[in-house]
Amino acid sequence: MKTRIWINFVLVVMAVCMPGCKKKAPPPTEPEIKPEAEVKETRPMSANEEPFGQTADGREVTLYTLTNTNGLRARITNYGAILVSLEVPDQDGKLADITLGFDALDGYLKVHPYFGATVGRYANRIGKARFVLDGVEYKLAANDGENHLHGGIKGFDKVVWRPEDLWANDDEALVKMSYISEDDEEGYPGNLACTVTYTLTKDDELKINYEAETDKTTVVNLTNHSYFNLAGQGTGDILGHELTLNADKYTPVDEGLIPTGEIRSVKDSPMDFTLPMSIGSRIKEVGNGYDHNYVLNSGGGTLALAAKVYEPTSGRVMEIHTIEPGIQLYTGNFLDGTLTGKGGKVYKKHYAFCLETQHFPDSPNKPDFPSVVLQPGQKYTSVTVHKFSTR
Ligand code: GLA
Repeated sequence: MKTRIWINFVLVVMAVCMPGCKKKAPPPTEPEIKPEAEVKETRPMSANEEPFGQTADGREVTLYTLTNTNGLRARITNYGAILVSLEVPDQDGKLADITLGFDALDGYLKVHPYFGATVGRYANRIGKARFVLDGVEYKLAANDGENHLHGGIKGFDKVVWRPEDLWANDDEALVKMSYISEDDEEGYPGNLACTVTYTLTKDDELKINYEAETDKTTVVNLTNHSYFNLAGQGTGDILGHELTLNADKYTPVDEGLIPTGEIRSVKDSPMDFTLPMSIGSRIKEVGNGYDHNYVLNSGGGTLALAAKVYEPTSGRVMEIHTIEPGIQLYTGNFLDGTLTGKGGKVYKKHYAFCLETQHFPDSPNKPDFPSVVLQPGQKYTSVTVHKFSTR
């Protein structure tokens, strides 16, 4: 019986999502006629694929490359739906890869702190690795002390996603992939059909869209866990990066990094990034570094500016817009020089920052936080846009 329901669910999901799964023709765009003076030498938008190796159980993994007209280049693999690299120009037009990670699939198959990964079914922590939904207690893997972190032992970052779409037109290049997380996987209720789409636009944005549907009431919180260094990956620490967060409040945490439930003002504290401040200016006052969820002033639900980061030596600027109500500022506190990444670079403490758009940690156990519950018939959507420029 259970198997039949499951098969039906898979069939419905396939019927809904799969037409368009194959490499489909890009939507037509009208050729633009520009006055001659405006015509610049540009390369076409492109979306390509190549083999990226095999998992331990012999599954083929692919590497997708999206390139835009200004040369920005994002490489994504369907192993963990990981953003492998992101090359963006500095103030002189010189490209550098601004995300930490590995040159080859091997690095991602070993233990690593979620470099570039798509994190789910629940990004960030769930206290005591349990929650109650409709009167039923669900027990999850305790993979961070007594707590549950980033989806458990084998989260969405460690599964092979199914390729759905790969194309480029005059405006954007995209890759879309899907994953069906089975009922009870890592302890979560419900078969969850998810997609993640990476889109590189001609306006120097990398958009990440998530969608999910369930056949049983469940909880969902998806994010991308890229480690950024706008001066170039592996070049040093990020303490000189200037950060602005559109957040007047944050969620204080206990020793296990679980929110206490309080929503506290950042005013007159080292947590305040409402005006541009270097990440390092007060980091010594926050213990091991920042690892906190900020409550965005937008309240979530509409695409709004959440964060802006400026790196003075390169002039690179990254803006993050999201429809999520929260963002985790994590300053690479657990990087300790034991991992060697792309180009042989050694990743030391504070060599990168993460800005993970999300619902608040431990929301399944915090009735006052914005809800993370997804019901059958509802569609979970999440959008985050990284916009690059220089100054
Ligand atoms: C998140 C968490 C951190 C840490 C990293 C991965 O950002 O908030 O505490 O677990 O992931 O190392």
